[in-house]
Amino acid sequence: MESSTTLNSKVTVPPLQVVFEKEARERILAALDDCLASGLVASGKNVQAFENWWANDCRTKHGIACSSGGAALEIIMKALDVRGKDVLVPTNTFIATVNAVIFAGGNPIFLDVDPKTMGVNLEEMKRKTTNNTVAAVVVHIGGIMTPEMPMIADWCQEQHILLIEDAAHAPGSEVGGKRAGQYGIAAAYSFFATKVVTCGEGGMVVTNDDRLADRCRCIQDYGKKSQWESEHTILSSNYRMSEIDAIIGLAHAQRLEEFIAYRKTIADRYTEALRGVLELVLPAERSSWYKYIAFLPEEMDRARFRGTLKEIGITLPGGVYDLPIHLQPVFESYQLRGTLPVSEDVCSRHICLPIFSSMTNAQVEYTISSVRSLVQPF
Ligand SMILES: Cc1ncc(COP(=O)(O)O)c(C=O)c1O
Repeated sequence: MESSTTLNSKVTVPPLQVVFEKEARERILAALDDCLASGLVASGKNVQAFENWWANDCRTKHGIACSSGGAALEIIMKALDVRGKDVLVPTNTFIATVNAVIFAGGNPIFLDVDPKTMGVNLEEMKRKTTNNTVAAVVVHIGGIMTPEMPMIADWCQEQHILLIEDAAHAPGSEVGGKRAGQYGIAAAYSFFATKVVTCGEGGMVVTNDDRLADRCRCIQDYGKKSQWESEHTILSSNYRMSEIDAIIGLAHAQRLEEFIAYRKTIADRYTEALRGVLELVLPAERSSWYKYIAFLPEEMDRARFRGTLKEIGITLPGGVYDLPIHLQPVFESYQLRGTLPVSEDVCSRHICLPIFSSMTNAQVEYTISSVRSLVQPF
């Protein structure tokens, strides 16, 4: 972390900052120049290099690059053919997790979450499983993988339920000796602009299953038999990634370990300074540290807390999800208000502290001292 500067009122803290340093930009520009000079900008050797790098980092066999994290989820759900079947999904997630099930013709069955991890637990999965359940999605919120992952994977296998990981937040996260992406039959990643690794827009499916990988690749490209064969075997759309995105994504991905290590120093400092001040939501093992999540004391008003910090120059990022999906207007007809009470509570009460690769020591310390001045230790 950048050496400490004297704390003063001039320090401001943005919710997030994405930085491509000079050296990284130069490497990207050189690769882009090569690519443009070749005239080959559709999916090619750079997409393949990104796929190989990512699959290798996830310790999986196949990587299938695509246009977004949402596309990755849609591809997986279509490839697994969940039509007419129930798919367990947490309500504390981004809408793409749920939409993917619906777009593939499945029925999302909402799961409440565990406040210790902000994700699902096995007990709730068992409670909501019926004879029509074919698949379940686990979302590693903020990079946190539940320590129940090995048990969840074993149980899904016993029950013949396909386990899918929405790992959009969790590149490099680990639990029980496995990395995000290794537990499920398939996992989806996002490279949206706010993510730990980004190329502006992009996504990736990873899987160890050869047949599923082939189906995903086909669905990613209009259901074509292969890239340059216009024989369409599955009804599908365009979810492809271009060489331009892959060049940027791969260059950023190659710095993942560095990003995680830096985020971890910030997270460790928050934990050391704010334990006993906020109720912290911490990973059991390795996290990408996409988000640093904590609960305010129950009597504190979150909007007022955010507003006060903003007045002194600290803009907190939004909550991971401030509204669970079952309460989104688009799902009003499901009439589930009040039925998933833990998610309704955690979504409305948690905060995320700023955490990003270019955050300075002064910004971290200013955030800590400001939070401490507003919250009475317990
Ligand atoms: C948990 C989760 N899943 C899926 C997505 C979708 O990713 P994208 O925005 O790349 O479509 C996001 C995006 O923020 C996400 O947070």
